[in-house]
Amino acid sequence: MGNFTTSSILLLFLFSSVVTSLPLSTNSRWIVDDRGRRPLSTCVNWASHMEPVLAEGLSKQPMDTIAKRIVSMGFNCVRFTWPLYLITNDSLASLTVRQSFQQLGLLESIAGIQANNPSIIDVSLIKAYQAVVSSLGKNNVMVILDNHISKPGWCCSNFDDNGFFGDKYFDPDLWITGLTRMATLFNGVTNVVGMSLRNEPRGPKQNINDWYKYMPKGAEAVHSANTNVLVILSGLSFDRDLSFLKNQQLKLTFSGKLVFEAHWYGFSDGQTTWVKDNPNEVCGRVETYMMNTSGYLVDQGYPLFIGEFGIDQSGANVNGNRYISCFLGVAAELDLDWALWTLVGSYYLRDGVVGLNEYYGAMDYNWCGARNSSFIQRISALQSPFRGPGLSEAKPHKVIFHPLTGLCITRKSLVRPLQLGPCTNAYPWSYSPQKTLVVKGTRFCLQTDASGTSVKLGIFCTGSNSKWETISDSKMHLSAKLRDGKSICLDVASDNTIITNGCKCISKDNTCDPSSQWFKLVDSTRSSTRVERSLLPYLPGKGLVPNHLVG
Ligand SMILES: *[C@@H]1O[C@H](CO)[C@@H](O)[C@H](O)[C@H]1NC(C)=O
Ligand SMILES: *[C@@H]1O[C@H](CO)[C@@H](O)[C@H](O)[C@H]1NC(C)=O
Ligand SMILES: *[C@@H]1O[C@H](CO)[C@@H](O)[C@H](O)[C@H]1NC(C)=O
Repeated sequence: MGNFTTSSILLLFLFSSVVTSLPLSTNSRWIVDDRGRRPLSTCVNWASHMEPVLAEGLSKQPMDTIAKRIVSMGFNCVRFTWPLYLITNDSLASLTVRQSFQQLGLLESIAGIQANNPSIIDVSLIKAYQAVVSSLGKNNVMVILDNHISKPGWCCSNFDDNGFFGDKYFDPDLWITGLTRMATLFNGVTNVVGMSLRNEPRGPKQNINDWYKYMPKGAEAVHSANTNVLVILSGLSFDRDLSFLKNQQLKLTFSGKLVFEAHWYGFSDGQTTWVKDNPNEVCGRVETYMMNTSGYLVDQGYPLFIGEFGIDQSGANVNGNRYISCFLGVAAELDLDWALWTLVGSYYLRDGVVGLNEYYGAMDYNWCGARNSSFIQRISALQSPFRGPGLSEAKPHKVIFHPLTGLCITRKSLVRPLQLGPCTNAYPWSYSPQKTLVVKGTRFCLQTDASGTSVKLGIFCTGSNSKWETISDSKMHLSAKLRDGKSICLDVASDNTIITNGCKCISKDNTCDPSSQWFKLVDSTRSSTRVERSLLPYLPGKGLVPNHLVG
């Protein structure tokens, strides 16, 4: 680094946030707005399908305050859950919010709602649901209406009788009636951009034939009632399996609105898989599974929406901690639209517990602020698109993403070593067939001299110390060889500088955590990239550096 003497000038490229022009539609694998630009739906799940059938948290904070907090955490969209019976069961639909809570004996919540959201306490449950959608709309938050379950309550298990067509609480005709009513009710409500037709199909009755029999019926019903909304369809086995679409295409009368949905948690692959097996091996295995069951759809030109993912944000669950680094790597690489589970800091009532704390919640217990701001920081890299229609001012390049921190490789100035920083300032790289990582538009390549020291940028790029292979089962270690032939891996020091170290957890060891060495080379056309002035002479004069920043 010391070779560079030029004073560094901070080149800040400021984003102006682009207003999304609704409605949304699809363009091949991308969800785009009315002007063909990709808004990236970075959603958070807000539950309104539990026994009281009211959006959670309204006893703690005014809905407008919650909407503003959603925006301040970087989300632009809510996957808003609803139980089918909200719109099909008259005795439920006619209840006021107060009556619904009275029936459940939730008197403290009533007082809280009265204090924080007095305008909804004596309106019907469906009016309260509409009021929340409208409040989100005033704050420019898009909404996906998610039919989460039929009978209000916590979801989901294989044996809750809400799992599949024909289950006790899942009558296909009633479902279509409900979807039609909901689509009609929200026709003309601009910020309602999509409907997720049924959450996590599952259980002993699930089968592919009935999926093909009923899902298109639901999709057509929604589209006839409301041509604006995206129609979002979930796979089998708790939204884990859309592999059957390889063999049999879905036939619909309309186009440009179909999106598929998948869910992916740490426990999806077993409660302790990530703890008892080697994390590199598990990550490779579950990524292969995901690509084979849903991820392949993007290569076939279908948008894929990860409708649920998340972890215990206290950091107490090792299984979840290991999974989330793997998940974030895959989600960045595929540049998917997604919804975090969950917004909810605490529930009015869940599993019989009043005021249950939700450790997966983005909000804290009292819905005052982020439960874990470092987690929100970490997912923020995925809150703007890396690529896709409407944002390609830069030529295609790679950014090097570090899922453990949610940061990317960049540099504060030329006299400073390479380090992690916000992905909006990521260095642009090209990854050559010779496996060199060259700063795009320059001759400088990434190289290492010794284990335990900072990596550097050099111009003699033919040695093994400049040749970076993606190794291990996870393919997330970037490994080069020192002059003595020893393999080392890219790593991060405690001050966030990029160093190399011996490669971690490459063997079958399950006790070690490789995630500090996990990086993903992510395709990007973001134009936000910062390249220092002294590197500019090496630039071809177009492409990454906007003209007004040159000279
Ligand atoms: C309608 O909802 C009420 C109250 O939750 C419930 O008791 C009743 O069984 C439901 N009716 C149907 C037909 O599902
Ligand atoms: C991919 O999915 C198919 C089912 O569509 C299955 O038969 C096959 O074994 C899977 N392959 C892998 C590598 O998981
Ligand atoms: C936030 O998450 C990190 C990483 O898992 C953890 O170490 C930290 O304790 C969490 N903070 C809070 C306030 O839960």
